Amino acid sequence: MVELWQIHATFMVTGLIVVIFVSLIARFFRTKPWWFRVHRIVATLGLIIVLVGFLTAFYMVSITSGLHFTIPHHWTGLSALIFATLTVLVGYLRPRLHLSRTHFRWIHIGLAFITAILMLLNIIFGFMLV
Ligand code: HEM
Ligand code: HEM
Repeated sequence: MVELWQIHATFMVTGLIVVIFVSLIARFFRTKPWWFRVHRIVATLGLIIVLVGFLTAFYMVSITSGLHFTIPHHWTGLSALIFATLTVLVGYLRPRLHLSRTHFRWIHIGLAFITAILMLLNIIFGFMLV
């Protein structure tokens, strides 16, 4: 039978693949007219996937130990969710932020990079738990 942690892990690994995928689209397919639509839509879907993965984890902890946010995997996981949300939010808010292109790129790419590192680390931490 499929266990909850397997569902959680599948969502999170898919989430990291999406983060890498949308970054590669933005980096290497900028000359294509569709790059921004794909970047924005897939990134938003990726955030939803990570959110569902997080809710699965929260439910899993609730029906087992009940000890939420108590070990490094939990903290890194929550941070990854926050950074993923910020990356997407900064992307959507770009027209309102009045940042230069250089500053926007620094912030957006920096947030994306931190998100990817946190997710990668936490996938490793996750497999050490099961
Ligand atoms: C980006 C990747 C991941 C993120 C952001 C993440 C996030 C989280 C968070 C936030 C929690 C705690 C929820 C709470 O305290 O209510 C959690 C729990 C858990 N995660 Fe992950 N996770 C990731 C990947 C994985 C992977 C790949 C596995 C397994 C291979 C895994 C296995 C688990 C398990 C077993 C728990 C429950 C631990 C417990 O009972 O205390 N996670 N995860
Ligand atoms: C998972 C979420 C996201 C990740 C990981 C991500 C990652 C990236 C990366 C790595 C670049 C720079 C590529 C390069 O030139 O080397 C980029 C560019 C960009 N992203 Fe995102 N992005 C995400 C979500 C979004 C969203 C939701 C929006 C807008 C609604 C957005 C808007 C932009 C824009 C406008 C650029 C081009 C900046 C420029 O060079 O002028 N991004 N993104």
